[in-house]
Amino acid sequence: MALNLAEPALLRTQNLIDDQWRDAGLGARLPVSDPATGEAFASVPDSDAGDARLAVDAAAAAFPAWSRRTARERAQLIKRWHALILQHQEDLARIISTEQGKPLKEARGEVQYGASYVEWFAEEATRICGDIVAEAVPGRKLLVLKEPVGVVAAITPWNFPLAMIARKIAPALAAGCTVVAKPAEDTPLTALALAWLAQQAGIPAGVLNMVTASREHTPGVVDAWLLDSRVRKITFTGSTPVGKHLARESAATLKKLSLELGGNAPFIVFEDADLDAAVDGLMASKFRNGGQTCVCPNRVYVHEAVHDDFVERLAQRVGALHVGPATEEAAQIGPMINARAVDKIARHVEDAVARGARVVTGGKRVRTEDGPHYYAPTVLVDATPAMELSCEETFGPVAPIFRFRDEAEVIRDANDTPFGLAAYFYSNDVRRIWRVAQALETGMVGINEGAIAAEAAPFGGVKESGYGREGSRHGLDDYMHTKYLCQGQLG
Ligand code: SIN
Repeated sequence: MALNLAEPALLRTQNLIDDQWRDAGLGARLPVSDPATGEAFASVPDSDAGDARLAVDAAAAAFPAWSRRTARERAQLIKRWHALILQHQEDLARIISTEQGKPLKEARGEVQYGASYVEWFAEEATRICGDIVAEAVPGRKLLVLKEPVGVVAAITPWNFPLAMIARKIAPALAAGCTVVAKPAEDTPLTALALAWLAQQAGIPAGVLNMVTASREHTPGVVDAWLLDSRVRKITFTGSTPVGKHLARESAATLKKLSLELGGNAPFIVFEDADLDAAVDGLMASKFRNGGQTCVCPNRVYVHEAVHDDFVERLAQRVGALHVGPATEEAAQIGPMINARAVDKIARHVEDAVARGARVVTGGKRVRTEDGPHYYAPTVLVDATPAMELSCEETFGPVAPIFRFRDEAEVIRDANDTPFGLAAYFYSNDVRRIWRVAQALETGMVGINEGAIAAEAAPFGGVKESGYGREGSRHGLDDYMHTKYLCQGQLG
């Protein structure tokens, strides 16, 4: 497969450590595959603990000078990076589409989305401020400063290969931290292209370092960072079991942590909802990235009074989605990321059907002539809490509909999960809106809205969906600590 990039230099196939593009120390390579076919079309270094430590050496050496730069200087460099991302947006979208399987149109949206975080944090860098506290004792001044935490390790997922890395690296750099990053093994090329653009923008040597590794070598890389006391913060987006592992293992050096973990989002349609708006919202949030998004609704609760009407409208829209190769302009649902992903979707649907669910549309693998990883956008009715898809993220284009009777029952069911990332509901009753928004145990709530993420908003969860926030001013705070100065003898 040829990528045909307008700027061929964006295709980087080495690690970036201390401003040098390097192979892994032991020379191992990791193939990068087209998710539709599983065929390799490029390769990157399969790094190990030695490469990971070299990256920390570079980041630790670069930290004093980078953190001492003025906020304005850092902001200007990050803005230059932002401009280069936009300048190369079409190439970046092609790389995302090719390695992740995201339809091209959506991949273009992801570049804009990721770039918006870079711009936001460039601007926020110049607004970092502490406090001067009213003194309790005469002759003393009490000051509170914000300081960068130090070297940050960023570990990112495959589902948003550009946006997730951008919204971790940009605030870290803005705060004055230096970074070692490891993108997901399925999608390293987008991250390396971003690192190259950061280098072109003039981000100094060692400030941003990136190493790639296979699933087998990832524990070695991550453990090297976990054990290294120079790494002061880990920021991770991915599964809850891995997040718990990071929390446990980073305890030895008490690193600061931001964990954006799994979700099991409820989407509730009350009887007083605008049904067309609710269908639009569900289409936008459920079928974005083929359903491979942590904030995707995983359980759709529809009031019995509007159930059949809603299902009919939804099924029409879902049945009309165009499934096809991601780089085809018309595609709305691309291939799933790999065989494990599509097997899980098929297993969830089979389990649901075996336990009494009915397939209204989809419910099978499609386009098998184009590759083994396509799954039809699916609507299931008569879903129940006993089904696997009710307890576990399906991470695919499947909307299971649960019928409900009253508000108290649906709130109880929506909250009956260890996860608490996002929730959505549709209602036109203003009292209900406040009641339900407060009762839902999640970090984010979409009210009559399916697309909730934005650079100016705090993205993150509660319960076993993690802690820490990305985006907004809170997203910058996560990369800083608070230092208190008390100066005496002034009276
Ligand atoms: C995610 O799936 O983790 C991120 C989705 C988003 O930024 O909307």
